[in-house]
Amino acid sequence: MTQPARVAIVTGAARGIGAATAGRLAADGLTVAVIDLDENACGTTVTAIRDAGGTAIGVGSDVADAAQVTAAVDRVVAELGPPTVLVNNAGVIRDNLLFKMTDEDWETVMAVHLRGAFLFSRAVQKHMVDAGWGRIVSLSSTSALGNRGQANYAAAKAGIQGFTKTLAIELGRFGITANAVAPGFIVTDMTAATAARVGMDFADFQAAAVSSIPVGRAGRPEDIAHTVSFLVSEGAGFVSGQVIYVAGGPRC
Ligand SMILES: NC(=O)c1ccc[n+]([C@@H]2O[C@H](COP(=O)([O-])OP(=O)(O)OC[C@H]3O[C@@H](n4cnc5c(N)ncnc54)[C@H](O)[C@@H]3O)[C@@H](O)[C@H]2O)c1
Repeated sequence: MTQPARVAIVTGAARGIGAATAGRLAADGLTVAVIDLDENACGTTVTAIRDAGGTAIGVGSDVADAAQVTAAVDRVVAELGPPTVLVNNAGVIRDNLLFKMTDEDWETVMAVHLRGAFLFSRAVQKHMVDAGWGRIVSLSSTSALGNRGQANYAAAKAGIQGFTKTLAIELGRFGITANAVAPGFIVTDMTAATAARVGMDFADFQAAAVSSIPVGRAGRPEDIAHTVSFLVSEGAGFVSGQVIYVAGGPRC
């Protein structure tokens, strides 16, 4: 008898790294819930997956809102079945030097990255425990090592690493792994927004980034999707509590 497809939740999957990851997991044979702030915005990712022969639904949910997270997970269970793969990918930046950083810049970044990963992991873990199998992958960043203008984001992305290692310790006995992927420079709307903030043309901004990347190119969303695909695979059950830097070289 063939096993039913695993059900995966990917947050922030309307575009960028999340969209590429959702597409990749669907191509790997998983059924995918595409989560983002606005359900309509999930349409492009969902359609691409369905056009390629996969199964996906779009669900609108703010990852920082506990009630919306509970409702989203309930809907995934009802429409697709219990989720046993979670990718905490939703993210925002509110960059500013410390002296100009507002309370709101700080709170927003903490809420989306840390509270979001916490709320979704807590809501999904019971389905993983029931199944005796689960995979949680959360997006960290090379910025966790420190990055000018990103005190809030660096703190959140370093926090994701401690969160991940703790989930690995608590949940390992239930067949659940937890890992973090820490991308370097990836070409998405997020890095385009950073270029705009510092007043640089995006092509020039990319060229400047590439000059210090050993493999000599910028990262693509698919580079991250490939790493997530490995971490959630059946064979990766002995890899847990790790942070994998995917940055085209050993340092950022
Ligand atoms: N692009 C990079 O170079 C890079 C590097 C390191 C880490 N990351 C991380 O990778 C992840 C994806 O980044 P990206 O570059 O694809 O960004 P992106 O801005 O292109 O996409 C982020 C997605 O998250 C969604 N989102 C934001 N707030 C949300 C919320 N409260 N609830 C639900 N969805 C929400 C957005 O609507 C968007 O679709 C983020 O966690 C980011 O911090 C990106």
